Amino acid sequence: MLYRDSYGSMALRLDGRKVAGEIEKCLKDGVSSCLKQAGRPPGLAVIRIGDDAASAVYISNKEKACARIGVKSLVFHFNQDISTQDVIKEIEKLNRNELVDGILVQLPLPKQIDEAELLKAIDPDKDADGLHTLNLGRLLKDEEGPRSCTPAGVMMLLDNYQIPIEGKRVVVIGRSILVGKPMALMLQSANATVTVAHSRTRDLASLTKQADLLVVAAGKPRMIGPEYIKDKAVVVDVGIHRQPKPIASASSQGGKTLLCGDVCFEEVSKIASAITPVPGGVGPMTVSMLLVNTINSWKNHCGLSLRMTDLLP
Ligand code: GUN
Repeated sequence: MLYRDSYGSMALRLDGRKVAGEIEKCLKDGVSSCLKQAGRPPGLAVIRIGDDAASAVYISNKEKACARIGVKSLVFHFNQDISTQDVIKEIEKLNRNELVDGILVQLPLPKQIDEAELLKAIDPDKDADGLHTLNLGRLLKDEEGPRSCTPAGVMMLLDNYQIPIEGKRVVVIGRSILVGKPMALMLQSANATVTVAHSRTRDLASLTKQADLLVVAAGKPRMIGPEYIKDKAVVVDVGIHRQPKPIASASSQGGKTLLCGDVCFEEVSKIASAITPVPGGVGPMTVSMLLVNTINSWKNHCGLSLRMTDLLP
């Protein structure tokens, strides 16, 4: 029972907040040690379109993380009804801006915007999210390049807790470009046997019950209960949802909403050997990987001798 904590019956909590904090400390030291040589801090441009409430929170978290480690962040907030072409013009300006090392387009986008066109317009060397076609191709071929932040964060978290991946049966629920597809590629590169399940998968539970490691990026609150879990499996919950609190508890703990993931945390904790909480699991790791991509690109743009291995714990 390698991952059980001292309570015996509960799964080990994979604490992304703690690991992200350790990564940030290294990144902060790395940035400050190279600042003089670089002549300028790393720069991250965040493009926000419309008023999606969750995006506002995510962007604010990214800005705060940048401030903590010495990355200069600039948020460009456009109206809901802006055209794809007008956003592309702004991205092209940022591609030419020598103070900008990373560009990120916060998803989801309003319906009239062509997401693929925007992601393609970003200079692949400034692709802070690792979602450009070239960088996804580099991932496919195991070549160096910025990696998609959420799956890279999951890999880093598992690595930090020394959870073995090689030879394990892994099921990823979700096939998005943001998470599911790059997640499956990274796990395959780490020698797992990977199955990707999605909304049309039949008899999902019989599949997930075989998984030593289950990564859930389904986008449905509390969809995965204990009936989906193999005994002592490792469970990674990528979902994050804001749900109304039950009336009885609404007054006791501030606020009327509660964050939850795609997994029923309490129930699944009794079966799994390790599990990520929501919040405080994958989310902070995603932000850390965004910082890693931005600093790596700064290092390349400024010709610094900094190695990525020096920047990570
Ligand atoms: N929306 C939710 N998560 C993410 C992310 O990691 N990157 C971007 N660009 N948009 C998101």
